[in-house]
Amino acid sequence: MKDLKGKDILSAFDFDRETLEHLFTEADELRKKLSEGKIKLADGKIMATVFLEPSTRTKISFQMAMVKLGGSIIDFQPESSSLQKGESDLDTIKIIDGYSPDLIVLRQSKPYFPHSIKDKIETPIINGGDGTNEHPTQALLDLYTIWRELGRIDGLKIGIMGDLKYGRTAPSLSYMLTFFKGVKVYYISPKELRLRDEVKNKINGKIIYEEMERLEEIEDELDVLYVTRLQKERFSDPTEYERLKSSYIVTQDSLKKLKKIPIIMHPLPRVWELPEEIDSLPQAKYFEQAKNGMFVRAALIKEILGL
Ligand code: CP
Repeated sequence: MKDLKGKDILSAFDFDRETLEHLFTEADELRKKLSEGKIKLADGKIMATVFLEPSTRTKISFQMAMVKLGGSIIDFQPESSSLQKGESDLDTIKIIDGYSPDLIVLRQSKPYFPHSIKDKIETPIINGGDGTNEHPTQALLDLYTIWRELGRIDGLKIGIMGDLKYGRTAPSLSYMLTFFKGVKVYYISPKELRLRDEVKNKINGKIIYEEMERLEEIEDELDVLYVTRLQKERFSDPTEYERLKSSYIVTQDSLKKLKKIPIIMHPLPRVWELPEEIDSLPQAKYFEQAKNGMFVRAALIKEILGL
């Protein structure tokens, strides 16, 4: 198992199977303790959240996790900061680092930005999403949810559907799945939105996968269907976004054509690809998935801070 104390978390590959299983067990224990009241584990510790792209779930769940652990948060507000005067992202983070928080959670739009600055700052950084590259703690809560719902990850058949070209959750989830045995992934997307070669190169030979354009092409019984939205903000050509909009959508009718209805997951936010009619299905797990994020992120904070 990896010792995460004081470490940066920049990629799904910063974990391994044993570490994940430890974090999942710890998240379950913290869930139980937190249901009995706030705890004081992180008393005196400070986490800075530096989100230079919008977020609801990642930012709030990290903040809630830290506060519930008994720690404090400083939330950087880009719109009222000196970024507006032209200060660079790097200078901004160096300044925050100089005030000595115990942890920084960073979201930024450039792929590999946290990797490029990690040696320039002292504070451990958690990558809360770097452009199209990765979102490692999303994969953490995705697998935690599967582990809780299905009791295992080995041997599962998982459909990952949607914008696999620009989305960052599909790469991180795929990387984490390489730690488990006998997993098969079906990547379902319009051909323009297929997984990038950079991602395929990291999973080739480590998980079995197939690519297809439509959900109905899957003949196997899926255990999980993980849907993602079209990443409008990453399209340089708005007409391309309009052309691909609504090119995939999960409906109750489309699910009924499958051998069985798998558990349905989504990192959220959703737009048109997962209509509200799905919410009433017992297999719809995306709100539970978002809630799980707080507990597994609390477990991660605990490990990085060595609490
Ligand atoms: N899933 C996710 O990263 O959501 P936010 O963008 O709201 O943080």
